[in-house]
Amino acid sequence: MLGPSILLAAAVFAPELLATPIARSSYAVKETHYVPRRWTQKGRAPKNQMLALQIGVKQGDFNELERHLYEVSDPSHSRYGQHLSHEEVNALVAPDDEALDLVHEWLLSSGVKNFVYSPSKDWINIRISVDEAEKLLATEYSIYIHEDGTEMARTTKWSLPSHLHKHIDTVQPTTSFMRTRGHSSFVNPKPLNLSEIYQPPGYVPPTDPVIAAACSINGTTPTCFKTLYKTVGYEQKSCGENQIGFNNFLNEVPIRPDAKIFLDKYAPSASKGAYEYKFVSIDGGPQQDNGSSPTQLAKGTNKEANLDVQTILGMTYPMPVTAFTTGGQPPQIPDVAAGDPPGNEPYLVWVNYILAQKALPQVISTSYGDDEQTVPIEYAKRVCASFAQLGARGISLLFSSGDGGAGNAAGQNAEECISNDGKNTTKFLPSFPAGCPFVTTVGATQGFQPEVAAYRPAKSLGPDGTLHGYYASGSGFSEYFSRPKYQEDAVNSYLHKVGDLHKGLFNPAGRGYPDLSAQGLYFQFVWNSTNSVISGTSASSPLMASILALVNDALIASGKPALGFLNPWLYKKGYKGFTDILDGGNGGCNTTGFPVTKDWDAVTGWGTPIFPEIVKLAGAKI
Ligand SMILES: *[C@@H]1O[C@H](CO)[C@@H](O)[C@H](O)[C@H]1NC(C)=O
Ligand SMILES: *[C@@H]1O[C@H](CO)[C@@H](O)[C@H](O)[C@H]1NC(C)=O
Ligand SMILES: *[C@@H]1O[C@H](CO)[C@@H](O)[C@H](O)[C@H]1NC(C)=O
Ligand SMILES: *[C@@H]1O[C@H](CO)[C@@H](O)[C@H](O)[C@H]1NC(C)=O
Ligand SMILES: *[C@@H]1O[C@H](CO)[C@@H](O)[C@H](O)[C@H]1NC(C)=O
Ligand SMILES: *[C@@H]1O[C@H](CO)[C@@H](O)[C@H](O)[C@H]1NC(C)=O
Repeated sequence: MLGPSILLAAAVFAPELLATPIARSSYAVKETHYVPRRWTQKGRAPKNQMLALQIGVKQGDFNELERHLYEVSDPSHSRYGQHLSHEEVNALVAPDDEALDLVHEWLLSSGVKNFVYSPSKDWINIRISVDEAEKLLATEYSIYIHEDGTEMARTTKWSLPSHLHKHIDTVQPTTSFMRTRGHSSFVNPKPLNLSEIYQPPGYVPPTDPVIAAACSINGTTPTCFKTLYKTVGYEQKSCGENQIGFNNFLNEVPIRPDAKIFLDKYAPSASKGAYEYKFVSIDGGPQQDNGSSPTQLAKGTNKEANLDVQTILGMTYPMPVTAFTTGGQPPQIPDVAAGDPPGNEPYLVWVNYILAQKALPQVISTSYGDDEQTVPIEYAKRVCASFAQLGARGISLLFSSGDGGAGNAAGQNAEECISNDGKNTTKFLPSFPAGCPFVTTVGATQGFQPEVAAYRPAKSLGPDGTLHGYYASGSGFSEYFSRPKYQEDAVNSYLHKVGDLHKGLFNPAGRGYPDLSAQGLYFQFVWNSTNSVISGTSASSPLMASILALVNDALIASGKPALGFLNPWLYKKGYKGFTDILDGGNGGCNTTGFPVTKDWDAVTGWGTPIFPEIVKLAGAKI
């Protein structure tokens, strides 16, 4: 109860507050988001459950950052390659003082005292209970459960005082249902039964005896990739300075003894690499040096991580490799008593961590994503803006394009394509972050001479004698991000060829992906000390990242800056260093999917790498 004397006292004893009056306003809804399919509400979230809330304060001058990014990434600009420093990027995106003051005042007056800022202060992180968060955001958190048993505390609607709407872009976890799903289709290791191998329809064995000797459709190896993409014999000269990294979520951790077995067999000169890669653990992400535990084996964990590390080491040893592992994954069943927050949002945790680092590998590969519609648009924009910040600093970010063709990111239920718009409209489902214009998205190919778009019908018999599910290189057009200038000509020309095909099922004005592609069917890999095969654009992204990291080695050795944000260079000039993929298709959503065409197409992008050509086009010497 506020009596007149208290108001008077405030006026008398706090005159500085009157000098800079803080606007008070009532709460209004800031964001609503539909619950994605396959999630059901299970009841209210426990009041005492802790949430790690991340508040995205509006950045000071993102447009200016974007201008810098495009200038330093455009090969015809005089500033090409003059990447910005960490400090320069932070200064550009730092929020206005007014925005920070108002947000600060709101948090303090709401009883929130401990906050942690990102280096540019555009993110504020707080740890509060569900009860406190519900008051702060005038919302109600519920526990939502996915068909596969995952539970998360989320809401479909949250509010802010009106005067803060223009100063805060996003607060998460609230409405984001994104899960960091791996883009690979797994196989249970079984002894190879070579009498009943599935051969992709139309597969033609290579005619070049060198490729035929190196590459087998029954299982691809580093020797095959090095031969196909022409890195054989390249000696690294910038080791130490030049580095590569990759991301791990979902409690995945790359297993050293498995990598050792793989390398001994397929790339013996890189064997030592199995015990040399470095872990960077973020928010309690796992690190381990021994084999998978019985629990990990029972759950099938670490296949994705093993695929990534084995591919990268096989291609890039002795280049230093960093495995980022991010914890805070919502557990299957939240342990409220242990204070383990199913309210975490690991993707944002990773982005925040990485933005705060001064030194980072020049190339970072990520094989995890989700359907774009599982995240609210403001969240997607802020995460994508963060990728622009890293690009401006000269970091190349590679993401796999998804495994469901024009359907969903993980390839599961890829035929059921229903929009999360409250009306269940039938639509192709683009993937995130694949559709962010500031990353380079990698699709998959199969076969060798020629390479064609990766496509495997459901119930295909694999080289291991087991049945494998539907898998098709992920592709499409973002519903959230409009087409960036750098791909205007390439995509327009493609859309012209496509004509009215699938009209209404995708957004022709959106950012089209993938940008590039690389092998992605039946990679040899080791898990549980056992050799098997695994497929997915999850394989293509670390493979492409490895080739680009080798290009960076040549650039650095020639005294030039690293490739950085690749796309403006790629679409203007670099595409000439890639083999155009002309055949195959992808399907998805009960359709034929997007057609593969000459030049850029929305299934294989510009195609697969020819290392010596890329090095030349980038202006370095082999
Ligand atoms: C391999 O396939 C053949 C033919 O289908 C079958 O007879 C044989 O039992 C299989 N072997 C193993 C080890 O699965
Ligand atoms: C792949 O397996 C099939 C079936 O055993 C075999 O005929 C073929 O020679 C193998 N291909 C290669 C390149 O090893
Ligand atoms: C592997 O290492 C972890 C941590 O170092 C330990 O907790 C675990 O018991 C070890 N597992 C085996 C099978 O040695
Ligand atoms: C792991 O390998 C062991 C030994 O080959 C095998 O007995 C076990 O079934 C495998 N576990 C899984 C989950 O594949
Ligand atoms: C959309 O589909 C979901 C799941 O099948 C269903 O619960 C919902 O009622 C549908 N909405 C409309 C508007 O048809
Ligand atoms: C594809 O077919 C399945 C099964 O017939 C159906 O449930 C689904 O709605 C169809 N999807 C589209 C996009 O037509």
